Amino acid sequence: MKNFLNISDFSSADLREIIDQAMQRKKNRDGFNKSSPDKDEPLKGKTMIMIFEKPSTRTRLSFDIAVKQLGGSTITLDPNNTHYGKGDETLRDTAKVMSEYADVIMLRTSSHKNLDEFASHLSIPLINGLSDLSHPCQIMSDIFTFEEVKGSIENKKISWLGDGNNNMSNSLIEASAKFNFKLTLGCPKKYSPGKKILTWAKKNNADLEIFTDPKKAAAGADCIMTDKWISMNDKVNQKQKKKILKSYQVNSKIMKLAKPDAIFMHCLPVGRNEEVTDEVIDGKRSVVWLQSLNRVHAQKSIINWCIG
Ligand code: CP
Ligand code: NVA
Repeated sequence: MKNFLNISDFSSADLREIIDQAMQRKKNRDGFNKSSPDKDEPLKGKTMIMIFEKPSTRTRLSFDIAVKQLGGSTITLDPNNTHYGKGDETLRDTAKVMSEYADVIMLRTSSHKNLDEFASHLSIPLINGLSDLSHPCQIMSDIFTFEEVKGSIENKKISWLGDGNNNMSNSLIEASAKFNFKLTLGCPKKYSPGKKILTWAKKNNADLEIFTDPKKAAAGADCIMTDKWISMNDKVNQKQKKKILKSYQVNSKIMKLAKPDAIFMHCLPVGRNEEVTDEVIDGKRSVVWLQSLNRVHAQKSIINWCIG
């Protein structure tokens, strides 16, 4: 049984296989209706339970459509009206019951510890649909999108600007080591990557450079990425954090420092005219809507890989 909790848990070869199969499966359904099942329907008769401790638009919809395209069905649960590790039932018992009903679970959680604990009691695969520490499904889709638009990501330069210490930047750092691309982060000291991820990056030979000057991080990049300055459940002084991150905004001046054919990526939801200007996100070099669509294709491959 395989879980999909962090990019760092996998070999480069396994991650490459997941991306390549996603690419193949997307090509195979060229011309199909949006929710028509793939010819082989590998999830026929199978169910995914989705649990969201936090809001979601893309993850909820893209997993739902992914499972439909694989021929299966989904059940979405709100932890507030489910016995989900509350006083009346342990997480262990909830996990055992869900293992009887379904074939795979996707959990979006405020605490990564919940993923680890839930996984330890499940006898079916668990997929991380975003935690406070990582967002592996989004980064896998983003690798897929980058390669669909620009070819192999190996040895390319990706620049991440803004909050360098959140779930997205952690998963991107893990991906840089696994997919062999150069990653430059432009972020203030206060929002630089944490010690744990930096130690992991060093041990795994990630080609990582951190700059406090966003211009240096963006120079010559093949892709500029950013994320919301205030993440869900980010318990910070929002006004102060936005003020500190102001000079890390992705705008047309920053885009001019990247390669002329560089693309702009954002996982969405976006803080418009905060971390990125309308001009950039709505501009020709932005691939954000394709990123949303490709969540479906990358996640189909992740689900297939987990279910085997
Ligand atoms: N990018 C992403 O995970 O979006 P949602 O929060 O809408 O799921
Ligand atoms: N860092 C953001 C990502 C949203 C998909 C958050 O956790 O809110």
